[in-house]
Amino acid sequence: MSVIGIMGAMTEEISALVEAMEPGGRSVRAGLRDYHVGRLWGHEVAVVFSRWGKVAAATTATHLIAEFGAGSILFTGVAGAANPGLRVGDIVVAGEVYQHDMDARPIFPRHEIPLLGVTAIETDSVLRERLLAAARSFVAEHLANDVRPDAVLRFNLARPAVVVGGVASGDKFFASSDDIVKLHARLPVECVEMEGAAVAQVCYEHGVPFAMARTISDTADETAHIDFMAFIKDVASVYARGILRMMLA
Ligand code: ADE
Repeated sequence: MSVIGIMGAMTEEISALVEAMEPGGRSVRAGLRDYHVGRLWGHEVAVVFSRWGKVAAATTATHLIAEFGAGSILFTGVAGAANPGLRVGDIVVAGEVYQHDMDARPIFPRHEIPLLGVTAIETDSVLRERLLAAARSFVAEHLANDVRPDAVLRFNLARPAVVVGGVASGDKFFASSDDIVKLHARLPVECVEMEGAAVAQVCYEHGVPFAMARTISDTADETAHIDFMAFIKDVASVYARGILRMMLA
């Protein structure tokens, strides 16, 4: 059984996963990253904070594959909603991912990844279905117990939606209604974040299956940074650990 690379976009998510790992693992520091290698819910894993932005995340993913033999990569994190129908606490399981800031026109069409000839990279269908089932189980069976009651009330997490859809990644934190409306008109995506499509490209180039779940932390508008900070602190790590436990345990 090959190593599962698990990347989180928040240090809080990584701490929650590392705490759940079996005793006897080791941590390897390289390139400002700590790779936590060992067993988690019966699987060989290497767990690491992606760091933020496409370059950082691609570098971390490459290291997971080249140095730790990751045979698949799972990514968890938060995202800003691009689809106005989504609310804080909803979960997007990535169907396909786009680099919203890729623009090599007029040499290549907007958003096409140069030399790969693709615009969207699809996630692995088997891992995606498992992640989707895990996210649904987490929401239906565990969220109410796992998340602090005051946070459930504050973010109105009574029954979050779980959807499969497009995710756009790029080196930009969206905090303007105008910007997110324009992005949503340009790309068929549910949410925006800063790493997923970079990791997907590395996985695509290495033939490594990739899947990702993103929890909506904000609506990518003028209030984004306020919701984002509070959500990370109280909720994001609980979601990440809960969803991955449903998938792997
Ligand atoms: N990750 C979480 N919220 C985000 C936002 N509004 N923009 C980009 N990445 C995010």
